[in-house]
Amino acid sequence: MNIIITGAGKGIGFELVKVLAKHKQNHIVAISRNGKSLKELVAECIKLYPEAKVTPYEFDLNQFEFYPFIAQRLETIIHKCDVLVNNAGKLINKPFGKTDLVNFDDTFNVNVKAPFFLTQALLPMFNKGAHVVNIGSIGGVQGSRKFPGLAAYSASKGALAILTEALAEELAEQEITVNCLALGAVQTEMFAKAFPGAKALQNPAQIAHFIGDFCINGPKYFNGKVVPVSMSVP
Ligand SMILES: NC(=O)c1ccc[n+]([C@@H]2O[C@H](COP(=O)([O-])OP(=O)(O)OC[C@H]3O[C@@H](n4cnc5c(N)ncnc54)[C@H](OP(=O)(O)O)[C@@H]3O)[C@@H](O)[C@H]2O)c1
Repeated sequence: MNIIITGAGKGIGFELVKVLAKHKQNHIVAISRNGKSLKELVAECIKLYPEAKVTPYEFDLNQFEFYPFIAQRLETIIHKCDVLVNNAGKLINKPFGKTDLVNFDDTFNVNVKAPFFLTQALLPMFNKGAHVVNIGSIGGVQGSRKFPGLAAYSASKGALAILTEALAEELAEQEITVNCLALGAVQTEMFAKAFPGAKALQNPAQIAHFIGDFCINGPKYFNGKVVPVSMSVP
């Protein structure tokens, strides 16, 4: 399978590339702004699985004007795409009263606008049966517990959840499945920023195994769904 993963430089995305690189039939394009992390990621994958096919792609998702060129470039690398994981995410932990326009745009650009326009730019590349997996948050699910300081982040993940439902409907004709995994707490830099001092129940490697399996097998059971992947109650 040809797989594109954003936010692959650290945290969940980094571990997800490693999980999917295990299968030598997979060719993964790993996108991050951080070229050094991507180099380390490729080296780790090759060390674990000498036949792993991982192509690093250094790119800042905020450069929306370049999306059409990314699509062209990715086409030369993998030709077609079977799985796109919109995993990159931005969290700014600030009280609502202090969240300014720049903070709001930074958050929505990475969490909503990037999945929207990257998926759009890659449309011609998707094979029939392709799966778009949006990495959402339990905080972006209606009725879940919310936390101070995360208004922009939670609202952006809520938008991503609804985008998922809308795209599943609109892309069904092209036989593209779209789902959203609404993750609970995972021990990453982002989690530490959101909840300083707290300890998450999951680590990135654990959750990456679940996400990796969902990327491949999810379309057999889900389409247009926002699936909570959280151990918190309620
Ligand atoms: N950790 C949790 O508890 C939790 C809970 C719910 C949902 N999530 C979601 O899970 C996903 C992964 O988060 P994480 O916890 O692994 O966070 P993380 O460790 O902070 O990693 C975030 C990733 O997003 C990438 N990113 C951010 N802005 C970018 C941009 N402008 N261009 C390209 N890449 C950009 C970062 O890339 P660079 O390598 O370039 O910095 C990094 O690889 C996010 O969507 C997050 O919202 C996480």
